[in-house]
Amino acid sequence: MLSFKNPLIIALDVDTIAQAEYYVDILGPYAGGFKVGMQLYNSVGPEAVRRLREKKVPVFVDLKLHDIPNTVAGAARALTRHGANILNVHAAGGAAMMAAAVNASCDEAARAGSKPPLVTAVTVLTSVSQDVFNKEIGITGAIREQVVKWALLAKEAGLDGVVASPLEITPIREACGEEFVIITPGVRPAGTAADDQKRTMTPGEAVSLGATYLVVGRPVTAAPDPLKSLHAILDEINVSPTSDS
Ligand code: C5P
Repeated sequence: MLSFKNPLIIALDVDTIAQAEYYVDILGPYAGGFKVGMQLYNSVGPEAVRRLREKKVPVFVDLKLHDIPNTVAGAARALTRHGANILNVHAAGGAAMMAAAVNASCDEAARAGSKPPLVTAVTVLTSVSQDVFNKEIGITGAIREQVVKWALLAKEAGLDGVVASPLEITPIREACGEEFVIITPGVRPAGTAADDQKRTMTPGEAVSLGATYLVVGRPVTAAPDPLKSLHAILDEINVSPTSDS
């Protein structure tokens, strides 16, 4: 399996394959990998994943699956066939649903003779504040406590890791150990707009706390010079900005 070159995953929140390929052609030699999320996948379908894999870049397919176990298993199989290197499900779907995703993706990869994707669980979205979490979503207690509970549940269900805010990296590492994958969106270089993200941290802080991968979208893709912004982040997280492709 093509592995991620460094911890920086660029979110391709665009509508067309042409726009996605524009960023991959510019940033591909330096980025750790790319993320295909709901916007691109629902605009152009699995072709987005296949085209990116043809360009030999690792792909995180961020569709946040959440349904009954049998349906999630079917979707995880399909995403494995399309070539996802990482996929994700919602931890709120429960242990049986999470385990179904892992089993299905491992089974499908074994059939194809390929390495299975990393299966990760979304904990609490980085756009959700403590107030919204309690008053609108209706879960009592601190976000941080729920995130750790879900991370442990994901680990027990056989998942490789979680997607969580950088603010929760430390308690997740303590609870789930060094090998557990922690993917953190909500990363904002100092001086850039938070947009709709509420629980953010800088790339340097997130990596030093132990994030495995950082997902960054608009601070790079909406920048006047995306490549310059990407290099600034690589520099901040001490990754040599040399292309190895
Ligand atoms: O543009 P920005 O850097 O805010 O993009 C963050 C990306 O990470 C988006 O594609 C979003 O879907 C994704 N994401 C997130 N919070 C999560 C999981 C994924 O922001 N908990």
